[in-house]
Amino acid sequence: MAKKIDEGFATRAIHDGQEPDERTGAVSVPIYATSTYAQDEIGKPRLGYEYARVTNPTRDRLETNLASLEGGIASRVFASGMAAVTALCTMMKSGDHVVCSNNVYGGVPRLFNQVMVNYGLQFTYVDTADLKAVEKAIKRNTKYVYVETPTNPLMTLSDIGAICKIAHKRGAEVVVDNTFMSPYFQKPISFGADMVLHSTTKFLNGHSDGLGGVIVCTKKEQASALAFIQKSAGAIMSPFECWLVLCGVKTLAVRMKQHDENGRVVADYLGGNRKVKKIFYPGLPDHPQYELALRQMSGFGSMITFETGSLNNAKKLLKRVKVCTLGESLGGVETLISHPATMTHAAIGAEGRKSIGLTDGMVRISVGIEDVEDIIADLEQALAAI
Ligand SMILES: Cc1ncc(COP(=O)(O)O)c(C=O)c1O
Repeated sequence: MAKKIDEGFATRAIHDGQEPDERTGAVSVPIYATSTYAQDEIGKPRLGYEYARVTNPTRDRLETNLASLEGGIASRVFASGMAAVTALCTMMKSGDHVVCSNNVYGGVPRLFNQVMVNYGLQFTYVDTADLKAVEKAIKRNTKYVYVETPTNPLMTLSDIGAICKIAHKRGAEVVVDNTFMSPYFQKPISFGADMVLHSTTKFLNGHSDGLGGVIVCTKKEQASALAFIQKSAGAIMSPFECWLVLCGVKTLAVRMKQHDENGRVVADYLGGNRKVKKIFYPGLPDHPQYELALRQMSGFGSMITFETGSLNNAKKLLKRVKVCTLGESLGGVETLISHPATMTHAAIGAEGRKSIGLTDGMVRISVGIEDVEDIIADLEQALAAI
């Protein structure tokens, strides 16, 4: 049973699902690297473990932990964030419809538009910051409203509580991708979300060393449907990867505090540099949804997008960085810097990028937890190249 979600987050991160091993007392959860389990007699698997695609003790521990952190009743983990999104799609049937934020991680519309439409699923993309647009887009066959907030990479917020009210009235469920904030700063279930999705690859794991995804459930039926998909489709998280996330979440609270502190300092620095034309960061009072950020999130995180003015400027800057690592991904302890137009959002094409206001001059930074003076000194010398 999940505990009250706004108490003892750091304690639950370290202890829920992370209890010492019953047999040996091992404090770190053991990695059960096994494909199968010995059975005592036909039809009598020990503790219910039969085959590792179906269940694995290390995976069970992680699923307990992540359900607790998000305040859900259970969670199911998958081989990657995209495998989790795929699992969500396989909970639908041909003819079902999804209303999706028009500015999400580029791999999501790629999956929806180039794979899932072939199986009769329908998708409508709207600016989910616009509640009227969400309401208008919901149809009789809408099964899910899929929201990423803040959006990737434009850091636009969607009002989770208001969207849930609209969707629930019309019989649709709300799924929130909470990857950017982590449950430390944002708890979608407390606003009414039906499921919460993460790429655990990012902040939950936090060390850029493993791929994974999770869906946290609020209803038993969701948890059993997703367990059936784990067993049937098989894109489960490996025991080693589960262990990496179990290690990573132990420091989630302290990491997120530092990410947030460094994020604010870097945003302020970028705001004062005349080479930077515009900043997208919900922690700045001039962010158009600053008030919603204060209401919905307990911190601002460390994802910042800024406008350098041109592709050429972005190229020059990204060539010069040294402390900041140029690469895809985010949420690691190291500062990662990327060019959304050619990296995370290449898949949505030039038209798609134009329609959401994503330019070639934009650079996204996932501020890490290094000494913030070093991150700023690096950005300063790199921006001097523009
Ligand atoms: C917000 C968000 N959701 C989902 C994904 C997909 O996760 P994965 O790369 O683990 O498949 C990503 C990947 O960058 C992401 O940024």
